[in-house]
Amino acid sequence: MAGKPGFNGLSPSEWTVLSRSIFDSKDVSSPREDFHKEHGATFSVALAERAIKMYSAVDDIVFDPFLGTGTTVVAARQNNRNSVGIELYDRFAEIAEGRVKQKTLGEQKETKIYRGNCLEQIKQVEDLTIQLTFTSPPYADFIHRSVKDRERRAKGSMPSLIATENKSSVNAYGDSDSDFGNQEYSLFLKSVTELMKEIYRVTKPGGYNVWVVKDHRDTQNLQPYIDVHSDMAICGQDANFLYHDLIIMDQNEQRRLVLLGYPSVFYTNQNHSYLVVLRKPTVDQAKKLMKIYKKEQTEEYGKMKLTQLRKILRNKKLNLSGNKPDLIARIVNQDCLERWGYIGIVDNAERLVKKFRKEQDEIYKEMSVDELQEIRRMRDLKDSKKKKDLIKIIVNQDCLEQWEHAGLKNITFNQAEKILQIFRKGQVGIYNSMNVTELREILRNKKLKLSGNKPDLVARIVNQDCLDLEVV
Ligand SMILES: C[S@@+](CC[C@H](N)C(=O)[O-])C[C@H]1O[C@@H](n2cnc3c(N)ncnc32)[C@H](O)[C@@H]1O
Repeated sequence: MAGKPGFNGLSPSEWTVLSRSIFDSKDVSSPREDFHKEHGATFSVALAERAIKMYSAVDDIVFDPFLGTGTTVVAARQNNRNSVGIELYDRFAEIAEGRVKQKTLGEQKETKIYRGNCLEQIKQVEDLTIQLTFTSPPYADFIHRSVKDRERRAKGSMPSLIATENKSSVNAYGDSDSDFGNQEYSLFLKSVTELMKEIYRVTKPGGYNVWVVKDHRDTQNLQPYIDVHSDMAICGQDANFLYHDLIIMDQNEQRRLVLLGYPSVFYTNQNHSYLVVLRKPTVDQAKKLMKIYKKEQTEEYGKMKLTQLRKILRNKKLNLSGNKPDLIARIVNQDCLERWGYIGIVDNAERLVKKFRKEQDEIYKEMSVDELQEIRRMRDLKDSKKKKDLIKIIVNQDCLEQWEHAGLKNITFNQAEKILQIFRKGQVGIYNSMNVTELREILRNKKLKLSGNKPDLVARIVNQDCLDLEVV
């Protein structure tokens, strides 16, 4: 089948072949090496390669916050993708670095490996840069139970159900408290949600986030089935990812059947893993979702009394004045910022603004101080003796006008904050140059309180200006 390549560079026929919902173990297994034994819970390069081909394109950045022996970054390099990985323990990070240095890898692509806790190290990854996260988390305290179980069995104590179930060869990686594998399950889920939120921040709109997990049992504690894959999907959705797909990896070929629960209770051998596929909404999807969310929130607040609304506004440190629809609109805007902050609605708004700022700077640098003063006067902007400052004042104003003109209303939380910061600074400058009667006149027009000293009046007007700007 001919046709133009998809976003990932695949032809329609390659695309179709990879679209099976069950991965056959023979398609996703790779030869085992010594370091696999040292680690005990690696996935194969072939599996990572398959996901990388499906969900990313050449030159994209692929990320793994639980890097282990580096399988994800190795597969990324072999497929001409850049990559970033984080690993808590030095001994595994060293194996990963060693594998990356091997000459057999494809064209030299950039690979960054950070050592330490992924919840902290991920802060070094820039917003909106990752196309695909492909990872497999350590399995909460399941690993510890599994190891203890094996020890019990070795000592010949009474065999438990889990003892006969656990044929796994996983080892505890180390004793760090930051190790997700050492956390009790409910704490583990909390850490996963926290990490998902950070992954959401770094992911590009429309990018993917794929978690390889296996469900398991804790029969001793009367939990015959622990649905890890659904829990991962819930944590992802709590971080605003869409639950995009679910793939099963058949591992029957790799695992022998064991006798479970015989003769009293029947359990199946869980010889498969899941790939939980999450996706960050695209810009258009995000806009739709935000619209639905806005409507729901507006209805919800509509049922409340003015006093309740004012309490919420106070907690959110927002302006309390106005009629009920004003108050609701203000709370809903803030809710949207908090919930959808990192969605990156305007593709690279920041990049555009930076470019624009640089271009404007170049234009004004060519002008004399007199010409700049003339522009400043015409636009009624703050004065300064220094050419550098004059340019800054004019360019700031240009940026504001340009953004408003471009209708950049839906932007990320960070971007909104930055824009507001610049705007606030510019406005404070303008109003500071006015006298108190002029300020009172503006306050009267904006229907705001007139009393207070000059800084109070300025602050009140600027707050209102920021609200009027409606960056979200
Ligand atoms: C299931 S293994 C991943 C194996 C990897 N896919 C491979 O093929 O080698 C999970 C890894 O996460 C690491 N880890 C656990 N907690 C971590 C944390 N807070 N930050 C970074 N890595 C962590 C463990 O040391 C372990 O190597």
